[in-house]
Amino acid sequence: MLSSSPGPIGIFDSGYGGLTILHGIRQLLPQYDYLYLGDNARAPYGPRSFDVVYEFTRQAVLRLFEMGCHLVILGCNTASAKALRTIQQHDLPQWDPERRVLGIIRPTAEVIGSLTSTNHVGVLATEGTIKSESYNLEIHKLHPDIQVSGVACPFWVPLVEYNEADSPGADYFVKKRIDQIMRLDPQIDAIILGCTHYPLLMPKILKYLPAGVRVIPQGEYVAESLKDYLERHPQIEQRCNKNGEAHYLTTENPDKFKEQAQIFLHESIDVENITLG
Ligand code: DGL
Repeated sequence: MLSSSPGPIGIFDSGYGGLTILHGIRQLLPQYDYLYLGDNARAPYGPRSFDVVYEFTRQAVLRLFEMGCHLVILGCNTASAKALRTIQQHDLPQWDPERRVLGIIRPTAEVIGSLTSTNHVGVLATEGTIKSESYNLEIHKLHPDIQVSGVACPFWVPLVEYNEADSPGADYFVKKRIDQIMRLDPQIDAIILGCTHYPLLMPKILKYLPAGVRVIPQGEYVAESLKDYLERHPQIEQRCNKNGEAHYLTTENPDKFKEQAQIFLHESIDVENITLG
């Protein structure tokens, strides 16, 4: 039985990447409580099948509901691409039709029209997100004239998860994918970082990107979209606690999470271990 008392807003990611989303959200909406869950023990999700990403995400969202959340944000593009719709349509009505799960692809697709002049947009993301074609579909629903080119960047998540984002070795992998996407469509003037880990590679991305191409990390746009959502849904907003606190859960070693999370958040945090599945 899920509790009807107000609770924190849940943010879920396969690992650390969703911290870039949490950071953006807390900048804009610091008054709310947040409960972050990283499924680090089973990351990365990018190369995993649709069924596996759906099952892992379903377990995580249900746990966040059981821990008091009424609203969960999938701070992970791979989970948003592969699990969001099934959870919304199949699981939520059974668990509790009053709770909500939101993804991060739609908010990014919504703003892209105002961020490109050439109407040629690139998407860098995990293999799972690119293969799902979710960005193409969402962008075309809203902006049918925009041409979208996507490139999967399989090694970028491990570079971030293993704290190698600033290492000289990372240059090779970043340059390779930037060159690839610009070859696919030289008219691209805006690139969506369609994986929440990728903002940590920003200095290297900017180093190899041609001048005049803008990079779009998602945190700020997801935060704006959440603010708007909460204003339009007072019945959900009233069930979100407002003490300005954030708590962190990981399926891996909490000490390791705590250390790594500092790279993303620049602050020390307390972390608890949980088991999913
Ligand atoms: N951070 C996740 C995303 O936005 C994926 C990372 C992973 O492969 O687990 O897609």
